[in-house]
Amino acid sequence: MSEKNLDSLVAKMTLEEKASLCSGHSFWTTKAFKRYGIPSIRMSDGPHGIRRSVVPKDEVGFFGSVKEICFPTASAWASSWNVDLIEKMGMALGEECQAEGIDMLLGPGVNIMRTPLCGRNFEYISEDPYLTALLGAAWVKGLQWTGIGACVKHFTANNTEFERMTLSSEMDERTLREIYLFAFEYIVKNEKPWAIMSAYNRLNGVYCSENKYLLTDILRKEWGFNGIVISDWGAVDNRLEALKAGLNLEMPTSFGVTNRQIVEAVESGKLNEKILDESVKSILRVIIKGSIKKNKIKYNKDLHHKLARAVARESIVLLKNVDHILPLDKEKLNSVAVIGAMAKHPRYQGNGSSKVRPTWVEKAYDEIVQILGDKKKIKYAKGYSLDHDEPKLSLVEEAMNTAAEAEVAIVFAGLPDQHESESYDREHMNMPENHVKLIEAVAQVQKNVIVVLSNGSAVSMKPWDENVKGVIEGWLIGEAGGSAIAEVLFGIVNPSGKLSVTIPNKFSDSPSYLTYPGSGGVAIYAENIFVGYRYYDKKGMDVAYPFGFGLSYTTFEYRDFEISKKDVFDTDTIEVSVKVKNTGKCFGKEVVQLYIKDLVASELRPERELKGFTKIALEPEEEKKVAFKLRRREFSFYSIEAGAWIVEPGDFKIMIGRSSREIRYSGIIYMKVKSRFRKRFTRYTSIGKLMHHPKVESKLEQLLTKMIGFQVLLRGKTKDRYVTAVKKVLREFPIHKLIIVSRGEFTEEMLQNLLEEVNEEGER
Ligand code: BGC
Repeated sequence: MSEKNLDSLVAKMTLEEKASLCSGHSFWTTKAFKRYGIPSIRMSDGPHGIRRSVVPKDEVGFFGSVKEICFPTASAWASSWNVDLIEKMGMALGEECQAEGIDMLLGPGVNIMRTPLCGRNFEYISEDPYLTALLGAAWVKGLQWTGIGACVKHFTANNTEFERMTLSSEMDERTLREIYLFAFEYIVKNEKPWAIMSAYNRLNGVYCSENKYLLTDILRKEWGFNGIVISDWGAVDNRLEALKAGLNLEMPTSFGVTNRQIVEAVESGKLNEKILDESVKSILRVIIKGSIKKNKIKYNKDLHHKLARAVARESIVLLKNVDHILPLDKEKLNSVAVIGAMAKHPRYQGNGSSKVRPTWVEKAYDEIVQILGDKKKIKYAKGYSLDHDEPKLSLVEEAMNTAAEAEVAIVFAGLPDQHESESYDREHMNMPENHVKLIEAVAQVQKNVIVVLSNGSAVSMKPWDENVKGVIEGWLIGEAGGSAIAEVLFGIVNPSGKLSVTIPNKFSDSPSYLTYPGSGGVAIYAENIFVGYRYYDKKGMDVAYPFGFGLSYTTFEYRDFEISKKDVFDTDTIEVSVKVKNTGKCFGKEVVQLYIKDLVASELRPERELKGFTKIALEPEEEKKVAFKLRRREFSFYSIEAGAWIVEPGDFKIMIGRSSREIRYSGIIYMKVKSRFRKRFTRYTSIGKLMHHPKVESKLEQLLTKMIGFQVLLRGKTKDRYVTAVKKVLREFPIHKLIIVSRGEFTEEMLQNLLEEVNEEGER
């Protein structure tokens, strides 16, 4: 439908009709208007599978949902660092939506993992905005390619479940732009998602659903978003304010209550009808896209289950492998102890709105039996109860006996359902006591212990991981994860996952520890941009497992690192390349990571920031060249003063590594900046800062020397250290104080002339 037709359609609609299009008709649908030929569109959660009620009228899904493929959750698939694979998963989800008559899938969740305790981390991608952006964009690209809309959520700074419907996330503009908005910006600009879901929480005091700065000024005007903003379910506090701020569709239905508020506001002149009309038009545009006839697709559940397995394989991260205990050799192994209830009752997805009813859940225990081909070789012990956290002596003893008799013990542990969920945060970073005690007890009687973890967010690994030889991070790995884990254990699959989040030694090491969860309705993001590895690296802290880390069964050699030019302008594209060779004995995949550090900066910058990555597959002896293109944005930071992304001149370090802490090569480039941000100096600028300006440097130096000389004479102190100290003190004075301090020698007029001189040139 053309814009002109849209205008005339909106002109025909009554005020009541327009208002009622702006909130859900039901829990999942928009209102249809037969007389105008406007259909309803249907949404569904999301994001790692679809949730469609079995009973058509059971809109909420109380009676259970149709069985669909349960893919690994986001924190798992993020460890794949595989953009193409995630795009394929997006396409598969789209196909499933087509088959089930879903027009828009509520995902992906691109909130940053600010704290390991966020109950919903399993639905999020990473602590790093760049990785979140690229993988989130791949998901959206795949999904929307099938004609299904994505609704990227939760916009923004929804980083805990603690008081999630009222909490105000408070931070400065730089932190907001660099960390909490970046993925949204990237996806909006590159993939044009149909919708954005506004978050429950407030941002700097204003509800995200009513935040004009977010929803209109940044999202629409700055980034050019042309889809619709949908509220998180029940997130709207004040419907009129929300509409004015740019929230188009309130979900779910408000049972007519807020529609009447809109009508009354227009009638009483409190709301300009044009604002309502614009929202209606935006919603209609999306409805038109969503209602394009689906081809009655039936998707192949088998194939999609296999794709879920492929994603699971790449999501697994091998964290520890002492003495090459892994992979296990099925020919040589005569007895294996499989310990832990999670081997038979896997935890493969998270709790809450994203919970999918799976088609077929694989169990690691069955898959191990299958691979070994001889059940007699395997002994199982439950080890703990999944219903509570207290260790039970009889279960621990049974596990110890089972482990002692075998050649190797595989312990399945992690976070049971009740420990991690949407709607509430975790209470601590540990696994339940009965899991930790079990690992420790088994390690007392068996020297070959491998731990397989199932958890959506980082868990503490100290000190138990010191007593085991192998640790496999299995995340919440979806319905087909059982076979993927067994394949990694026996080397049928070579692990290639890399951590998308740092695992700190303990919770109190984490960046937001002192301000989490917040109080008085406010969470102060005091760590600013130093989230995840940006924090640990800046502080030079030891961590359990760093961001980007993951072991392989093969080895990779890096060589021929090249940077296309070393003396560059910010308008240039810089090419960085390196050759990577598989020097081991088996096929493997490697994630080559590129980090940047600004070495000469006027603001605090991180030690390194991820600005590129590629996953490559290599046969033994095979070598590939990996190349990256770096542009202005990769070197810039968000300047609060300039209200823009700026690049500063000077040296930048470019690093290529296997993880954030295993840098293989680095090189320095010198950046020249064509159009520089002109910073204004004022009477309040410090003398020290002004002295950096070449034009006035010597003038000020002379003045200071003169004044210090005077002080020296006055006090009779001639020691160098006294002179140096006075100079240091004066450097911190705002320039206008010189008028008094110099006893009138430096006049107001001289000050004005000096400011004019520096501001003309605007040196920075
Ligand atoms: C969640 C959203 C979800 C919606 C619909 C809300 O509680 O925060 O992520 O899409 O419910 O189920």
